[in-house]
Amino acid sequence: MSDAMATFDEYERITLVAEANLAPSVHNIQPTRFRFAPDGAIEIHEDARRRIPVGDPTGADNRKSFGAAAEGLVLALAARNISAGIETGGDAIARITLHPEAAPDPLRTHVSKRATWRGAFDRPITRDVKALEKLAAGGDMTVVTDPARIAEIATLYDDTSLVTLRDGAYRAELVSWMRFTRGAKNWSRDGLNAEAMALSPFEGFAAGVVMGPLLFPVLNAFGAARPLIAEGAKVTSAAGVVLFHRPASESDFDTGRRFYRAWLEITALGLCLCPMSALADSQTAATELKRAYDIADDRKLVTAFRVGRRPPNAKQTPRVRLPASELIV
Ligand SMILES: Cc1cc2nc3c(=O)[nH]c(=O)nc-3n(C[C@H](O)[C@H](O)[C@H](O)COP(=O)(O)O)c2cc1C
Repeated sequence: MSDAMATFDEYERITLVAEANLAPSVHNIQPTRFRFAPDGAIEIHEDARRRIPVGDPTGADNRKSFGAAAEGLVLALAARNISAGIETGGDAIARITLHPEAAPDPLRTHVSKRATWRGAFDRPITRDVKALEKLAAGGDMTVVTDPARIAEIATLYDDTSLVTLRDGAYRAELVSWMRFTRGAKNWSRDGLNAEAMALSPFEGFAAGVVMGPLLFPVLNAFGAARPLIAEGAKVTSAAGVVLFHRPASESDFDTGRRFYRAWLEITALGLCLCPMSALADSQTAATELKRAYDIADDRKLVTAFRVGRRPPNAKQTPRVRLPASELIV
């Protein structure tokens, strides 16, 4: 490591951290903190106040989020011709050591364009379907483009989501990270706001009422909850569903690094996506998908991405992020 690398000034630190924090994080909780150590390494730490113990009891999604942020930092460093070594296993979640002469990584161009798209997709075109199918060659993405099979996954997703959302504790925790109206505290800082969830102001308001502790159980009892939370039509509008799977023995941190790169590779095709992690978090759904798509037993289903093209009239909403100055510890 050279001295020049050890001395990022305040502006450079903020710029690097802001770029690293553009990485995806579960529920947009942004749990990753960055420490510029005296020896020049950059350490990854956790803000332990930002856990989601009900939705992520083992912390696996948090660890994936740290991995994604670390990968974001590596991409940002490579753009400055600095190559990064990542060490895990010490006091920090990871230590990123800096070394000279990295080549910029072409995926970095797509960091600012990548964002979750939770609306319906534009009608699939053959070129997009073919581009998606090529991703399967990498070995960790099983690509489903047959509309009938996408429709089956859509139904499985809605069934699985309903089971998950029936759990009041899960719902309460999720709602605590949802911002239904523009006036909501933290609307543009963290969590999932109505815009990011592709809800109009009226739909956002209504969703807040439906997801509450009183109404949801009643609606559910009358069978009215499913149509309100259903995303099946969005899934079937996709050009494809990508089942993203990794070796079962891989650490969640490393899985998170690859998760971010896989998402950027799809962004590089000019496509956008929405993860449907309920399909991987539910053991029943994950087992069914692994069996149906011949995913080996020694691999874990990480998530399923629904992928397509954003409709031409739909603009990407502003990124919701904490100021980078709050992420440096
Ligand atoms: C491990 C992991 C799982 C995720 N699962 C879901 C999901 O099931 N549904 C969803 O809408 N977004 C999911 N996301 C995406 C995050 O909500 C999203 O990255 C975050 O809100 C930040 O928004 P952005 O991706 O637009 O930058 C997941 C992200 C991570 C890291």
